[in-house]
Amino acid sequence: MKTKSVYVCTECGYQSAKWLGKCPSCSEWNTLEEQVLVDEKKSKGASTPYSGKSSPAVQLNKLEAPDYMRIKTGTDELDRVLGGGLVSGSVVLISGEPGIGKSTLLMQICGTIADEGKKILYVSGEESPSQLKMRANRLGINSENLYIQTETNLDRIVEEISRLNPDIVIADSVQTIYSENSSSMPGSVNQVKEASSRLIGIAKNEGISIFLVGHVNKDGGIAGPKVLEHMVDAVLHFEGERDHAYRIIRSVKNRFGSTNEIGVFEMTSEGLNEVPNPSEALMAGRPKNVSGNCAVCVIEGTRPIIAEIQALTSMTVFPSPKRTSNGFDYNRLYLLLAVLEKRLGLRFSTHDAYINVIGGLRLSDPAADLPTALSLISCLKDKPLPDDMIAIGEIGLAGECRAVAAAEQRVREAERLGFSRVILPERNVGKGKLDPSKFTIKIEPVKGIFDAISVALK
Ligand code: TYD
Ligand code: MG
Repeated sequence: MKTKSVYVCTECGYQSAKWLGKCPSCSEWNTLEEQVLVDEKKSKGASTPYSGKSSPAVQLNKLEAPDYMRIKTGTDELDRVLGGGLVSGSVVLISGEPGIGKSTLLMQICGTIADEGKKILYVSGEESPSQLKMRANRLGINSENLYIQTETNLDRIVEEISRLNPDIVIADSVQTIYSENSSSMPGSVNQVKEASSRLIGIAKNEGISIFLVGHVNKDGGIAGPKVLEHMVDAVLHFEGERDHAYRIIRSVKNRFGSTNEIGVFEMTSEGLNEVPNPSEALMAGRPKNVSGNCAVCVIEGTRPIIAEIQALTSMTVFPSPKRTSNGFDYNRLYLLLAVLEKRLGLRFSTHDAYINVIGGLRLSDPAADLPTALSLISCLKDKPLPDDMIAIGEIGLAGECRAVAAAEQRVREAERLGFSRVILPERNVGKGKLDPSKFTIKIEPVKGIFDAISVALK
């Protein structure tokens, strides 16, 4: 019998009939792997996530909206990111770099949920029982409701799930699980697809909540097929630097809550601690009276967070100046530098420029434009910005300041943290918008970057 095979990209899941050195879809080199196609008839049902029950079409008004049962995970930060707790029967994918704290966080929530009398099966394909026990000891977890299975064979995991009938299953990680139905290597696109669709099927049919731990590839995306993200109910991404104490969990997809909500944690010797007040934590011990520093208030999900942007500029020794950005969009930095050079005549083209956002935070809010521009100018002119001042605003190509969303919420947070002045776009202030008389903090509206400098660097 002739076996058929296809070549599948391990980065993005692109399929090709012949081997190629470079994936035409994601442009990665050497990522195409051969996969033998299994006989469709023989393996029927193995990779369909839902049971074969037929489901006729129903009128929308006859359907009842379910009242989701939510399990509290014991950490408010994670519950908020999940949209108010873990929905029973949902599948959550947690991704992040190695060593960021995925297993630690899951073990911690296992402890809390197991203590409430729920049964949990923790399947680990990466660590031995003694390693898991050591971690649990370190985190002070010792529950009879928490079952540990160190296994990578999908069939045996499924057997154990039906034997124990747990409320929650944790698969750490989905890339280590393999099925004998498929001849590909563990971690390959086929295997990840197979393992996750079987587990998702179990979650949906039996009402078990499942956490899947997913590895990331070198660009920070989830390793394995892109369809994995479509199949699960929520995708949470662990961000932050391994060497920094702060860890941020961001929801990038959530069928049961809002996305872009973040939870902030701190890695300590006793595991991950919640940081309920990230603004205060990020502002603690900030350097005073130094040029190139500016505070900003960004909106992360539903929460305002005060962060600090630091800029450093120095005369370049290279033919073309160097630009580095940590936590701020790299292309946006180029754009801001071009606006400052063109509109204000500042000579950034002869200077290297570095941007760093404190605490490993990644800013995607356009309101971070104005404080970034101000910190660059402050460093170039070597004049410190006032420490009690905060700036928010998007900058347009003409150097104008554009209105930002949720201005009132940002100003309140700045006021709460004891800042005494806030620079913000003029278009945010006025009738029907932000009313300065409602605040004790001094509100300084500006039209554009030129105004902002004269207000900030008097
Ligand atoms: P881990 O949770 O195993 O990361 P992942 O599963 O994402 O690969 O471990 C994260 C790191 O945190 C590890 O290097 C050890 C450290 N750590 C602490 O600092 N404190 C602790 O209490 C624990 C359990 C781990
Ligand atoms: Mg781990």
